[in-house]
Amino acid sequence: MSETVIRHGAPSARDAVRALRPSQIREVANAGFGVADVLPFWFGESDQVTPQFIRDAAGDALAAGATFYTHNLGIAPLREALSEYVSALHGATSPDCIAVTSAGVNALMLAAQLVVGAGDRVVAVTPLWPNLVEIPKILGASVETVSLDYGAHGWTLDVERLLAALTPDTRLLMLNSPNNPTGWVMARDDQRAVLEHCRRHGIWIVADEVYERLYYGDDAGVTASAPSFLDLAARDERVICVNSFSKAWLMTGWRLGWIVAPSALMDDLSKLIEYNTSCAPAFVQQAGIAAVREGERFAQELAASLRASRDHLVGELSQIAGVDVKAPLGAMYLFFTLPGAGHSLDLCKALVREVGLGLAPGSAFGAEGEGFVRWCYACDPARLDRGVERLRRFLARR
Ligand SMILES: Cc1ncc(COP(=O)(O)O)c(C=O)c1O
Repeated sequence: MSETVIRHGAPSARDAVRALRPSQIREVANAGFGVADVLPFWFGESDQVTPQFIRDAAGDALAAGATFYTHNLGIAPLREALSEYVSALHGATSPDCIAVTSAGVNALMLAAQLVVGAGDRVVAVTPLWPNLVEIPKILGASVETVSLDYGAHGWTLDVERLLAALTPDTRLLMLNSPNNPTGWVMARDDQRAVLEHCRRHGIWIVADEVYERLYYGDDAGVTASAPSFLDLAARDERVICVNSFSKAWLMTGWRLGWIVAPSALMDDLSKLIEYNTSCAPAFVQQAGIAAVREGERFAQELAASLRASRDHLVGELSQIAGVDVKAPLGAMYLFFTLPGAGHSLDLCKALVREVGLGLAPGSAFGAEGEGFVRWCYACDPARLDRGVERLRRFLARR
């Protein structure tokens, strides 16, 4: 019997997937392969290990046999602990409105899967960590960006321009405040205006608030958290808040996060979690309880020390000719200009190759980020000083 061979061309992923942006930070890191001593300020991660009491809780849970699947939405004691934590920061939030996820990235994907489909229009405020822009595209949506402006007061939002972009046919607004990469924090009044506008037109808001505890505004001592959509919205509105254990408790590698959303969405969210990850690991969830219940002092001390690092690095960088840097109100990055940053990818590759300084190119965060570089300052100040010294050496040679 003769076999019929059908030719389909070379195997390839869907067009929408092939069109996704590859990570430019990775490209810079690759340029540094073979460089013996790189100071990596390019990733959004502290150089400190997760606090001992959280690691102990995971160890105890493993020893006790927490190795099984859990409920899709997370174990009840963690949802309860998160409900108390969120309620203390942002007003009454019942466990029915909370889903545990496999970190912030997974929470963003789930949130988008809940409300966005092929052909939908999504708006995002940029410069922005690429995931928020690329995730809706995986689902076949089109994403329009509205850029923050850079000026004498650092990064600011022209809220009228954002409202104009939020046309009635818009399905979803993706917002991240405190923002990666700029450190911009959305003002309460702007949140109010956006929420009212979205209510009027039935537009969903996905608010990525993973940096909410890394907040340095004048009112930080009182609120202990950046302005949140949860402070303004009722729990049954079209608002989905995404959060993570990664930043406030230095748990990046644990992959644990959560969503606050209307309880009416939870059955459908549960199905999506089933088909994505089924659940977050049980012993990691136990560690999450320790973080939320016992980690308040740690979170506050971390924010204070990051604020000091921010001020230190801003002070050092502003003494370098040609550098324009401002102290942002949140997150753990400086997003600043310097000579040569007009081609930020080339500049960052040269920085890592020539002096072992690892920064992220602004263009990694969208065309609006070109002209800038991002420096993560979540590390020992002595290491920041070594980085500044390398930057001086690099610029002196040019
Ligand atoms: C803006 C933003 N959202 C979400 C995340 C997700 O972090 P994780 O998946 O570790 O929770 C990050 C990580 O850097 C981020 O910068």
